[in-house]
Amino acid sequence: MSPIKSLRILLHRMLMPLGIDTRKLRSDRKILEGTVFPVLENDPNIQSILFVGCDWYTLHYGALFRQKRFITIEINPELARYGSEEHHIDSCENIPRLFPSDSLDCCILNGVFGFGLNERAAMEATLAGIYGTLRPGGWFLFGWNDLPEHRPFPIEELVGLDKFQLREFPGLGSIYESDPINRHRFHFYTKQKIESGESASS
Ligand SMILES: C[S@@+](CC[C@H](N)C(=O)[O-])C[C@H]1O[C@@H](n2cnc3c(N)ncnc32)[C@H](O)[C@@H]1O
Repeated sequence: MSPIKSLRILLHRMLMPLGIDTRKLRSDRKILEGTVFPVLENDPNIQSILFVGCDWYTLHYGALFRQKRFITIEINPELARYGSEEHHIDSCENIPRLFPSDSLDCCILNGVFGFGLNERAAMEATLAGIYGTLRPGGWFLFGWNDLPEHRPFPIEELVGLDKFQLREFPGLGSIYESDPINRHRFHFYTKQKIESGESASS
């Protein structure tokens, strides 16, 4: 890493706790941090949040969720330093090996599809794993860029998404296009609660 980038990251680490943000944020990240995160942080029904993929500009995210169990998972070991206190160096395809079924209140897969998680089988395994580990009624936030270079294949072809239900997120609706340039889209899903007398497979 160049000395300039190291300095930039060090400054970010030191200044964020003082409320000074040196990053230049796109509108999708402003929405994520300024609208989505506060809703999650203030929801007493959400205690555990799994955030997939991290980098220097997300290193302070754990501090934004002081009241929660904020977990990160990142495939690149070199980025573990930017993860939360509870961090896993692993692929998100392996989420079910790390958490019990129906145990997580929220999972955020933002900017990972098309940014390394590009293979159809890996994406389907990830979605199936998130579905299995999310508790009924929990949130699944899927953020992706609707651009040819970051859309390995049409998301309509992802059968793993069919099990989730789109759900209105406060202030944003169920699908929100947050940035006209990178065409970043947030899809808000839930895992449907099973009504009594209904089986999980129905
Ligand atoms: C563009 S960054 C987005 C980081 C973060 N999710 C965010 O919203 O800013 C994509 C990250 O996903 C990670 N990644 C790619 N494939 C992954 C996988 N299979 N499992 C876990 N992390 C992965 C990359 O290493 C990279 O750090």
